[in-house]
Amino acid sequence: MKILIIGSGGREHTFAWKLNQSPSCTGLFVAPGNAGTAQIATNLAISVTDFPTIAEAVLQHGIAMVIVGPEVPLVAGIVDFFRKNETLKHVAIIGPDASGAALEGSKDFSKAFMQKYGIPAAASETFTRETLAESFTYLENEVTAPYVLKADGLAAGKGVIITSDLNEAKHELKEMLGNAKFGEASSKVLIEQHLKGIELSVFVLTDGKNYKILPEAKDYKRIHEGDQGLNTGGMGAVSPVPFANAEFLKKVEEKVVKPTLFGLQEEGIHFVGFIFIGLMNTDGEPNVIEYNVRMGDPETEVVFPRIKTDFVELFKATAAGELDKIELEIISETAVTSVVVAEGYPEAYKKGIEITVPELEDGTLLFHAGTRLQDGTVLTDGGRVMACTGVANTLAAAIEKSQTLAENVAYDGKYYRKDIGKDLIPYLEIL
Ligand code: AMP
Ligand code: GLY
Repeated sequence: MKILIIGSGGREHTFAWKLNQSPSCTGLFVAPGNAGTAQIATNLAISVTDFPTIAEAVLQHGIAMVIVGPEVPLVAGIVDFFRKNETLKHVAIIGPDASGAALEGSKDFSKAFMQKYGIPAAASETFTRETLAESFTYLENEVTAPYVLKADGLAAGKGVIITSDLNEAKHELKEMLGNAKFGEASSKVLIEQHLKGIELSVFVLTDGKNYKILPEAKDYKRIHEGDQGLNTGGMGAVSPVPFANAEFLKKVEEKVVKPTLFGLQEEGIHFVGFIFIGLMNTDGEPNVIEYNVRMGDPETEVVFPRIKTDFVELFKATAAGELDKIELEIISETAVTSVVVAEGYPEAYKKGIEITVPELEDGTLLFHAGTRLQDGTVLTDGGRVMACTGVANTLAAAIEKSQTLAENVAYDGKYYRKDIGKDLIPYLEIL
């Protein structure tokens, strides 16, 4: 089977690495891909939202399955585009249609969905430019500090503002609603009660009726050690998460996963693909912070190395509505990834810097993110450059492998966090 992966990050390189191991994969394409995917697949220089050109490539190369990595093409309706097109109907596509992608594309929609189906989440209310005055009253009377403000639409991970200063919260509301700080994405803003606890993410693959829960992960969003500084796309991740014990995960399945899939069916949304559930563990109880309709990046770089199951068979079963026939085989080892980024990221940074890629030791995997190949040389091509994964029997050994790999990747201005996973070690001692 010939397969196309849409996207160009560490997540897509990990998909490619995994699919490439399957004997059923006879041709692998990535659009647009990066220098890492170029080594194991054919990169196609097509933008992720150029659906007609993607369709042309699918027909030209005889591609039978398309896997969509990022949210943007999903929210823009790539799945609907394929399903509506007679010549593409035979192509299996892994990802939800636009109605399902709204779970990520609109925080107002996803919050209303959670409320309707009794899925535990923070209390919140949505405001518009017309109800700016009411939003101030809500802020003062209905929620307590720190104040959580969320732009309704996609804002490249920047649409959530958390502040303990009431005046700053009001100022931000004015900026978002009144001055379109995030453009159309902030034409609606949610004010949400702040939740206390520890965050983690649970990933579900569903065929629309059956589902598989994949290994959970914890990511590290801030640029600096100790979770300081600006938010990023993700500086590292760990799987499994020591504080997510079997009892907690059972609660997630019963209180979150099952009602979410039930709700989707009730709403007539045929969801085929990944649901990434961002959760707060508040004293052992799960609360949903957000849904994403795709895998996480860099969470994929620790979740997929722990799954032994053949991915072509897994996705074929997903597309056919036969996920119940698949046995998911998960390894008990721990995976840790540390992301090396460009100097200046997540603010302005340079591209085109030459990278020296080290030899890989046992138990390490190097997933490219913002890289490109030029005349045989690997160059930086984005803020997050590579995800350095270590897999080992213990968390401490996996951290060590991941960190050593991050240290050995060389380019000017390289930066990475040296504390990924270390905060989780005490939990192992308690358990
Ligand atoms: P989101 O884009 O909704 O995932 O929000 C980004 C980040 O903001 C989350 O990963 C959390 O760290 C934080 N966050 C969002 N909502 C809340 C909340 N209600 N309580 C505490 N932290 C939150
Ligand atoms: N690492 C967070 C995300 O993929 O959204």
